[in-house]
Amino acid sequence: MAAVEIRPAGPSDAHGVAGVVRAAFAEEGPAVAAIWADVVARGLDRASLVAVDDEVVGHVGLSHAWLDARRQLVDVLVLSPLSVRPDRQSAGIGTALLGAALEAATAAGAPAVFLEGSPHFYGRRGFARAGAHGFEAPSRRTPDAAFQVVLLPRHEAWMTGRVVYRDVWWEHDAAGLRDPVLAELEQAFAAD
Ligand SMILES: CC(C)(COP(=O)(O)OP(=O)(O)OC[C@H]1O[C@@H](n2cnc3c(N)ncnc32)[C@H](O)[C@@H]1OP(=O)(O)O)[C@@H](O)C(=O)NCCC(=O)NCCS
Repeated sequence: MAAVEIRPAGPSDAHGVAGVVRAAFAEEGPAVAAIWADVVARGLDRASLVAVDDEVVGHVGLSHAWLDARRQLVDVLVLSPLSVRPDRQSAGIGTALLGAALEAATAAGAPAVFLEGSPHFYGRRGFARAGAHGFEAPSRRTPDAAFQVVLLPRHEAWMTGRVVYRDVWWEHDAAGLRDPVLAELEQAFAAD
């Protein structure tokens, strides 16, 4: 990987973070950047890491969610968004950001990190189907294969149940997928 430093984002990185999220997610970029800005504004961010050389070239965010376990609500983390500037993709930066995010989540004492994303990309990088561990996605509109988890050392066997997103994800209609994308992805996953 080209030499980049991964470090926590500071207040002066806000512009760089928004720029890299917008660039990575293309036409969805403004919407994804707006969600992360709202997550931060509401104090729901738990880690925000940047990959930097001369400027910000990658970013990953972790934020708060609940796990509605039978015994009690459990604080867990959601990993989203993960962004690498298009001209710097496929050089290991996303993988490095993911590793750093999981280290941060472990250090913070979180029992699990959840995400909705490509099972190909994340499955090769430590994530497993959350449904196989008995977790339920916040929405039925999340394809099973996309709803993924990493269990961390603080996880205990009773910590299972539905993941509950904070309101900000619903206000931005960013929980799960909607048709026609949902139907297309379900078909693609079924063909795998
Ligand atoms: C997905 C993404 C974060 C990966 O970062 P990266 O630095 O390119 O990844 P790495 O170099 O560490 O790893 C390369 C992997 O990313 C995949 N990748 C590269 N560009 C990609 C893209 N535009 N979209 C999806 N995956 C991509 C490669 O196929 C490769 O997968 P494999 O090694 O499992 O075969 C980055 O490409 C990106 O920002 N994509 C657009 C935003 C996005 O889709 N974010 C994830 C939402 S779930």
